[in-house]
Amino acid sequence: MNQEKHKKILLINGVNLNLLGMREPEIYGSTTLKMLESHLVECGKACDIDLITMQSNREYEIVEAIHAAKQNNIEGIIINPGAFTHTSIAIRDAFLGVEIPFVEIHISNVFSRESFRHTSYLSDIANGVIVGCGLYGYELALLNITNIISNKYSNK
Ligand code: DQA
Repeated sequence: MNQEKHKKILLINGVNLNLLGMREPEIYGSTTLKMLESHLVECGKACDIDLITMQSNREYEIVEAIHAAKQNNIEGIIINPGAFTHTSIAIRDAFLGVEIPFVEIHISNVFSRESFRHTSYLSDIANGVIVGCGLYGYELALLNITNIISNKYSNK
């Protein structure tokens, strides 16, 4: 009998990421969020990961999802907070509060863009940061968080 427990990982996409596929395609590509999420759920299944996905344009819903992750036995979080990256002390505090390992991901290379995108309220407390790899960055983030929660590699 296979007694191995599936690990639960939460993928959070923040503000404006519901517009993937339509929004500035020269930066974010033509794949929709729905296509991206279903692809990642399938990638997760291949490694016994239950990937739960959510997107919200509301900062408080993201904070509440991070809080709920604790009760729901989520072992790791992948987050692209969108523009909340550069503004949200509330999301930072939520991660500090729950102490769940997380990887921050950005589709674009934020460092080659406007200077206000060079600041993140999350990067210094994240277990990993993936920037500028396009949508492939989400697959890298999934591999990274899986390794972190399996204690294979950890920077903390
Ligand atoms: C982004 C970069 C942010 O600066 C921007 O506000 C986004 C998307 C990215 O994935 O490249 O909405 O997080």
